[in-house]
Amino acid sequence: MQVGIIGLGVVGLSFASVLGSKGISVIGMDSDFQKIEKIISKKSLFFEPKLESFLKKALSKSLEISSDIEKIVKNCDLIFLTVGTPKSKSGFIDLSMIKNASKNIGVSLRHSTKKPIIVVKSTVVPGTTTNVIKPLIERASRKKAGKGFEIIANPEFLREGNVIDDTLKPHLVVIGGSNKNSVNRLKKFYSKLYGSKIKFMTTNTQTAEMIKYANNSFLATKISFINHISSLCQSISGTNIDEVAEGIGVDPRIGRLFLNAGPGYGGSCLPKDLETIIQFSSKIGVNPVLLKAVQQTNDLQIKQIVQLIEKKLISVKNKRITILGLSFKENSDDIRESRSIELIKILLRKNSKIIVHDPKATKNVERIFMNKITYANSLSEALLNSQCVVIMTPWRVYTKLNNNDFQKMKKKLVIDTRRILSRKNLNVEYLAIGLGLN
Ligand code: UGA
Repeated sequence: MQVGIIGLGVVGLSFASVLGSKGISVIGMDSDFQKIEKIISKKSLFFEPKLESFLKKALSKSLEISSDIEKIVKNCDLIFLTVGTPKSKSGFIDLSMIKNASKNIGVSLRHSTKKPIIVVKSTVVPGTTTNVIKPLIERASRKKAGKGFEIIANPEFLREGNVIDDTLKPHLVVIGGSNKNSVNRLKKFYSKLYGSKIKFMTTNTQTAEMIKYANNSFLATKISFINHISSLCQSISGTNIDEVAEGIGVDPRIGRLFLNAGPGYGGSCLPKDLETIIQFSSKIGVNPVLLKAVQQTNDLQIKQIVQLIEKKLISVKNKRITILGLSFKENSDDIRESRSIELIKILLRKNSKIIVHDPKATKNVERIFMNKITYANSLSEALLNSQCVVIMTPWRVYTKLNNNDFQKMKKKLVIDTRRILSRKNLNVEYLAIGLGLN
């Protein structure tokens, strides 16, 4: 099967790289010429472990990069739609890119003899594949779904920082579609790619779309739940949130994963998907009480960190505060909805002097704050004369911090939002999210 991928962001580029590295004939397409140029020169546009080596391999084997959607529609049997569905100004999902891509597919399909299966991997609210994407393609192509093309919803569950491993070995492949033949063809494609042990779930398009939102909402709920318990622990002398998580995580009905208390969840997915499903829920007349509480708990988390710093420094005005870690999670340079950015914004409003450090994301942050904050080139520079250091992202390099590193701080106050250091080894004032003081 000739495969086409429309949209070369995190999902599309990693999928294209994995398929191409395995010798599967694939054309990756994006309308952004700068992006195309960079990809052709074998460079990823963002930091993602293993991605560049897979991309190089794919380009030397069977991955072709193009900006021509017609080429994909006229040549491919399977067309994956992986364009972005970002947050609009209102916080709801912005479908403009997917609508545009659907129309363009339709126009190219009009005079094509192929009958491709169009597979929607982008995250879209329940009903979008059938009620928005399908009619747009039908109208532009003047062909009916089922006759001129097939359409399937196929959400993905990749985690940034792990996209290659997750693309190579997904925990589940969800296939939502009504045409048995095309569902089976897609299943066959994935079985060949992943082997016979891969788990499938077949359903209709709207349930497949809902699974994605339910998945991300549940993950966000787990994080907000543990952050809420963590706030309780912090106020109970001697209590340890990680031991609590360990204890409840052993219960197979709960599970230990996604119970790491911290500064709250960030990134381009959980905050956006939660906001979308909350708004969607209200629109269809279901009061989203639980999910709103999840969101509020997440917002509260960063405010509580500010309160903690303020309590310790009396006032944060003119205080030199170091922020370690700017990306929303480790092994990524993505700062979208990063809690560190939110923390910096609040502290700047309170006139703190901010110095930041991150192994990969500093350049992205410079574009937001310009000369309003200081960017350290090394950890020692970041900590020099600082009156408080806040560890925000659990990069490996920060787990090695020790008393020597904190020596040149003006006030040795360490706030560890991820509990990656051990209080007993430190000769500083050490406060951590979720650890009750003794
Ligand atoms: C998330 C989902 O985990 C993926 O399954 C999904 O495919 C993806 O969104 C998407 O919709 O595309 P991602 O945004 O890469 O993946 O990041 P996560 O690993 O979910 O982390 C999100 C945030 O939660 C990070 O800020 C992380 O630090 C935080 N987190 C995570 C915690 O605070 N505690 C935890 O226990 C886990």
